[in-house]
Amino acid sequence: MPHMFVPGPVDVAPEVLQAMIKPLLPHRSKEYEAIHRSAAEKSQKVFFTENRVLIGTHSGSGMQEAGVRNLAQQDILVCVNGAFSERWYDVAVSNGKNPIRMDAEWGNPISPDALRDALKKKDFESIAIVHNETSTGVENPLRDLCAVVKETSPDTLIMVDAVSSLSGSKIEMDAWGIDFLLTSSQKCLALPPGLSLAGVTDRALDKAKTVQDRGWYFDLVLMEKHRIKNSTAMTPVVSLVYALDFQMDRIFAEGIENRFARHEAMSQRVYDWALDNGMSPFAAEGARSKTVATINNEHSMDISELNAFLMEKYQMRISNGYGDLKGKTFRIATMGETTLDDVEALLKAIKEFLSK
Ligand SMILES: Cc1ncc(COP(=O)(O)O)c(C=O)c1O
Repeated sequence: MPHMFVPGPVDVAPEVLQAMIKPLLPHRSKEYEAIHRSAAEKSQKVFFTENRVLIGTHSGSGMQEAGVRNLAQQDILVCVNGAFSERWYDVAVSNGKNPIRMDAEWGNPISPDALRDALKKKDFESIAIVHNETSTGVENPLRDLCAVVKETSPDTLIMVDAVSSLSGSKIEMDAWGIDFLLTSSQKCLALPPGLSLAGVTDRALDKAKTVQDRGWYFDLVLMEKHRIKNSTAMTPVVSLVYALDFQMDRIFAEGIENRFARHEAMSQRVYDWALDNGMSPFAAEGARSKTVATINNEHSMDISELNAFLMEKYQMRISNGYGDLKGKTFRIATMGETTLDDVEALLKAIKEFLSK
């Protein structure tokens, strides 16, 4: 099987794929509702929350849109330090909100001090933070950023995109005070694309009820109405929900803390290897992602050629840099089912390419 070191869609275990091929149940049946409920309740453990987890049968971008549509009538502070946080800002603009950007240079994390200053200058209904910037390989100091919001502007709702980190890097939704925590299925959860999950607090839902023009598909109040009945307003991707329920048991069997440790060890191995081989991580020290190592392409490798070599000889694939970073960086995702042995095999293969 080709092994994909790309930041989603990642490899899915054959037994997880197998779980999807059970006969389809009608989504308004007791049997389906039991599976939906089981998947949602198991997901709460991975979110470290007692709050509800909504299962959205669309990709994570839909939950980004749901966040901005529901958790602010107008004023959102968007922390931008990469392509996906920039996109969240664009999503807010295109939904008619009034987002204000707080930028940090790509490669650097969002600074808690800069956040404190921004929150002192203006009141915001909500703040949007991308935990793990997949475009730059930066993990933002989420716990510290949440603490700053709690201390400086406790009424501001905290929205977090953990699309490329949830279940690979620990995020404690309740302990850190996050109101809306979203992720996608095709990254660290190691499921096929098409599902998104969002942990949502009561406080966030109370706010949503006051916001005008929430739309229909991404209305959190409507989603909650159907979640209580263990289903969705529209026809869900039933087979993916089977897979989610099954995959959660596999995650618990590994142990969630072991899973975090495995992700950290794999990414650390990539950073150490890069430094040993004359290449440096793109992200600042102390802010390096545990799930997508982004490395400066200091040997000017042709990443397309490298991928052609990896695919042909080893059925492996990595990612080029994102957007303007294409060619200047390359990205090795260490997510989901990937093991340290897989990473060792990849690094050996890249070394072989380099020595040619
Ligand atoms: C950090 C981040 N946010 C949002 C998205 C968009 O998620 P999706 O493709 O599931 O809509 C991605 C996709 O790679 C991402 O990495």
